[in-house]
Amino acid sequence: MQSLSEMAVEVLTTADGRAKTALGRAHAARWFAAREAGTPLPIGKAAPPLRPARPDRPELLSPRDMPRRRPGTLAGRLALLHAVGHIELNAVDLHWDIIARFADVPMPLGFYDDWVKAADEEAKHFNLICDCLESLGSHYGALPAHAGMWRAAEDTAEDFLGRLAVVPMVLEARGLDVTPGMIEIFRKSGETGAVDALEVIYAEEVGHVAYGSKWFNWLCGRDGLDPKDQFHALVRRYFHATLKPPFNDEKRAEAGLPPDFYWPLAEREITGDAAAPDEGTT
Ligand SMILES: [Fe+2]
Ligand SMILES: [Fe+2]
Repeated sequence: MQSLSEMAVEVLTTADGRAKTALGRAHAARWFAAREAGTPLPIGKAAPPLRPARPDRPELLSPRDMPRRRPGTLAGRLALLHAVGHIELNAVDLHWDIIARFADVPMPLGFYDDWVKAADEEAKHFNLICDCLESLGSHYGALPAHAGMWRAAEDTAEDFLGRLAVVPMVLEARGLDVTPGMIEIFRKSGETGAVDALEVIYAEEVGHVAYGSKWFNWLCGRDGLDPKDQFHALVRRYFHATLKPPFNDEKRAEAGLPPDFYWPLAEREITGDAAAPDEGTT
């Protein structure tokens, strides 16, 4: 019988985006069917690659070489959707990676339920964005994408708490801050397919941040650590920037992320820059 870790590695080593997400969704269905039957799959052990397999396209560029996008044009909005698609594909891999990479840390089955469910939702998000791109005459891979997205995973490859702090509680929380502005852009342009897709993503991402803070707090509690102090120390160690306001305090609160976690890590002056989705993970 295939273990959950082996399933995760299979997803991580599949390059094509649609194939990766189809496989991930099938594995998620298998996990939940076994859970419902009262015969959970073993977590097992399998070595995840340091970097997941990815398609030949998109070409990956460093952030400073990325062309600037103007959301007032269709080309700009396609670039924005393409960036979101890239973030979602990374998110699929990030969710399967945490399952396999830290499988040696004994965790309650509920931890795996949360991560498999979130991985399944990330696959859905990638497919929704691909559908939007295709209905607008483009596709994932048609434009260059941000090369730095896997950095957080590599930086925290040895640190489970650090991974939880940086990925769900910083990057995915950043997604909550920037998504309403993106939804507004597509509402104004009348691209309702993109509005609908982003609304699904926005609603489900609250849950992903909540899983992060729930299990971060749980692990701190198990080890007798103060969660807020740990969070500040880990984000300063592994995240190479300050957090950028404005924050979506309401959705962050819904996800169990209180202001005294993120405000001390923020740059105080609010810049005029529009929030860029490349800096987050959804
Ligand atoms: Fe997410
Ligand atoms: Fe997502």
